Amino acid sequence: MKIYETANYKEMSRKAANILSAQVILKPDCVLGLATGSTPIGTYDQLVDWYEKGDVDFSQVKTVNLDEYRGLTRDNDQSYYYFMHQHLFDRVNIVPENTHVPDGTQEDADKECARYEALIESMGGVDIQLLGLGHNGHIGFNEPDTSFAQTTHCVDLTESTIEANKRFFKSADDVPRQAYTMGIGTIMKAKKILLIVSGEDKADIVEKAFFGPVTPEVPASILQLHSDVVIVADSAALSRTPKQK
Ligand code: GLP
Repeated sequence: MKIYETANYKEMSRKAANILSAQVILKPDCVLGLATGSTPIGTYDQLVDWYEKGDVDFSQVKTVNLDEYRGLTRDNDQSYYYFMHQHLFDRVNIVPENTHVPDGTQEDADKECARYEALIESMGGVDIQLLGLGHNGHIGFNEPDTSFAQTTHCVDLTESTIEANKRFFKSADDVPRQAYTMGIGTIMKAKKILLIVSGEDKADIVEKAFFGPVTPEVPASILQLHSDVVIVADSAALSRTPKQK
């Protein structure tokens, strides 16, 4: 596990965008695993900026997103489909058909999750998976549990996640109670993992996840067992962890 410490959110975003664009340059038809939440917004903005300058070309890139709220339509401005189009897909030359987000409107959860898992497999797997980190240690929407979920599945969101995400909705009542998410097993199959984290409010969970025991109670802790993980974190997020060399 390699940890890069950056001075602030802007530098974290720039470093993460650097790593993602290096992947695209080295393998133009790569599969990027993408994430939502507030943390990756700066990374996407930076990628758009470099695309506009002619430095990154997304014309052959394929993407798979981690998760989607169950029940939200694609035109709902809180859906992750909408988020990805707003922050990245509509701003670069990616082919829309090459982008994939679980379909939250599919009522048959088992069918949709199996379809999504098979889709990732058929694309040859994820070359680099971008991840944020939830305050309770969730990655994608893999909430703290008694065991690590393997494949793409439907989850009940915890109260703390509903609380954390209500800022994007009119009220907590409007936050969907379920989501479709890649499983921990799906995420661990990615060839490379890039986790980004910013802010003092994440310092405790960073310490638990990456310097504590591997446990399904802290889903991100499993990343300690992946052979190629890069964490890009700002100083505030690393304020409670041992000093990095
Ligand atoms: C959300 C997403 C995660 C994200 C996390 C942190 O619920 N499902 O993929 O990493 O919560 O979000 P933020 O970056 O806004 O703190």
